[in-house]
Amino acid sequence: VKSIAVLTSGGDSQGMNAAVRAVVRSALYNGLEVYGVQRGYQGLLNDDLRQMDLRSVGDILQRGGTVLQTARCKEFLTSEGQQRGAEVLRSRGIDGLVVIGGDGSYQGANKLSKLGIKTMGLPGTIDNDIPFTDATIGFDTAVSIVVDAINKIRDTMSSHERASVVEVMGRHCGDIALHAGLASGAETIIVPEVPYDIKEVSERMKANFEKGKRHSIIVIAEGAAKGEDVTREITNETGLDARVTVLGHIQRGGTPTAIDRILASRLGDFAVQQLMAGESGKGCGVINSKLVATDIETIVNTKKPFNMELYELALRLSQ
Ligand code: F6P
Repeated sequence: VKSIAVLTSGGDSQGMNAAVRAVVRSALYNGLEVYGVQRGYQGLLNDDLRQMDLRSVGDILQRGGTVLQTARCKEFLTSEGQQRGAEVLRSRGIDGLVVIGGDGSYQGANKLSKLGIKTMGLPGTIDNDIPFTDATIGFDTAVSIVVDAINKIRDTMSSHERASVVEVMGRHCGDIALHAGLASGAETIIVPEVPYDIKEVSERMKANFEKGKRHSIIVIAEGAAKGEDVTREITNETGLDARVTVLGHIQRGGTPTAIDRILASRLGDFAVQQLMAGESGKGCGVINSKLVATDIETIVNTKKPFNMELYELALRLSQ
């Protein structure tokens, strides 16, 4: 490849900018031309590309969001849209593309790869729902935000001897709830991957209050249940004073943690190297500290396994 482009697509995540910077700087270091596509696949269809130089990615490493902006593009789901995307890249002499995003973004990259554009996917989503990588870019920051919020919530819940339900993001994947729950000593973690029984949850809470607990934290992934509903059920079942906090998009903003910046930097550089080696249709990840590239076809057809060991540990430690 001689000329590549980079885009961010789907929901943004902290560290996307660090990944864009790594792709651009690594491409330039290796003598490639590099273009930034504005607004994801939508921008590609609109031929909204600009050539990037070293300074175009200065001062973005530490910023949340994505300077390339992002969009969810329906048109790119059609084969006409995909053909047109490939044509736009070809007309500019661009033969490689790095796509930073989640599952839907990976599917688009795979389609372009089949149309002859060399593509690489980078896992950019707070949800941690992409398999074949230990973590996605943004996950560590999102978990840290949730833990920080729970620390604050816990202070006031403890003073009032209340139960607190905290709803976090994760439509299909409970990883934010699981990791933040374990890191903040939540008593109950409710995720889409594990069925739960509100009566059992309530019995456990009552028993723990009888053992001297002064507050109770229940973390729920939005895909498992609505925080509001669970709060009402808990109040009815236990008679405890319960409150709900829905953290929402606060989880997707703010400066990325060092862990996310390092992950994004390694993956961005790795994607460029993979393209230069002639690889295509792969998703990049880090497994046990090692950089790996896996066929996107395999990635999109595999469900990320849920870590039951961590889940059970969280329960055992939070009595
Ligand atoms: O990025 C994934 C995600 O954070 C989900 O967990 C959440 O449900 C969704 O995005 C919300 O995104 P938006 O409000 O941008 O549609």
